[in-house]
Amino acid sequence: MSEGARQSSSGPEAVPDHVAIIMDGNGRWAQMRGLPRQEGHRRGLEALRRTVRNAADAGIRFLTLYSFSTENWRRPQTEVSFLLGLLRRFVEKDLIELHQAGVRVRIIGNRADLAADLRALIERAEAMTQGNPGLTLVIAFNYGSRDEMVRAARALAEEVAAGRLSPSAITEEALSARLDTADLPDPDLVIRTSGETRVSNFLLWQAAYAEFVFTPVLWPDFDREALDEAIAQYRRRERRYGGIGSVTSRSVGVA
Ligand code: FPP
Repeated sequence: MSEGARQSSSGPEAVPDHVAIIMDGNGRWAQMRGLPRQEGHRRGLEALRRTVRNAADAGIRFLTLYSFSTENWRRPQTEVSFLLGLLRRFVEKDLIELHQAGVRVRIIGNRADLAADLRALIERAEAMTQGNPGLTLVIAFNYGSRDEMVRAARALAEEVAAGRLSPSAITEEALSARLDTADLPDPDLVIRTSGETRVSNFLLWQAAYAEFVFTPVLWPDFDREALDEAIAQYRRRERRYGGIGSVTSRSVGVA
């Protein structure tokens, strides 16, 4: 991205181009109501659908949602199966509606561990929607940033071993191009719900210059107001990308 484009990506009117969300708090939402955790995830899926609409409305062009991490396999088998079922139903049932709304669907994460029929569903969803002009919805499923970087490093190593790539050609761009997110812009804003303030192995490479907003709102309650509040916080930040930025309190001698 050019420096000019970067500098205009925050400020009073700016809408972040790419928003990534760690959707957290489904379990606590259910627990607070004496409901099973699964009900929290079901309501979480409703919040996901609502957020896709709200994000498109707000002018966001890329929305990445962390829906299952490489570490989530450690959860009880029943919960893992339920989350796999939710993804399956989401891809099957929502696909036509998303397609008609012009949404481009992408799934990132390690597909090798997924059942063959689920992989086929994902591939069909991506193929059907790839030419769509609207919001790009990226679902991170069986995703872990370290796993993604290891897979990218392995791909580079294999190309070097095969004599197709020189070690000196291993640059930031070369590694980026082998990540699951190769054709996506880096996130401008990362939101985590439920009051937790961890990154949890999410987009560690891609979020190098992202702004982070942590909100106490539990994911099933995440609504337009919560999204707008996160965007408002983003607008108040000054993004400097390692530079010194414009006139700041520092440059006039104020701490
Ligand atoms: C974190 O809440 C949430 C998840 C691990 C799953 C997120 C899933 C959805 C939002 C449903 C949509 C899913 C798909 C696959 C499309 P948590 O269970 O860790 O909550 P807790 O920290 O309160 O226990």
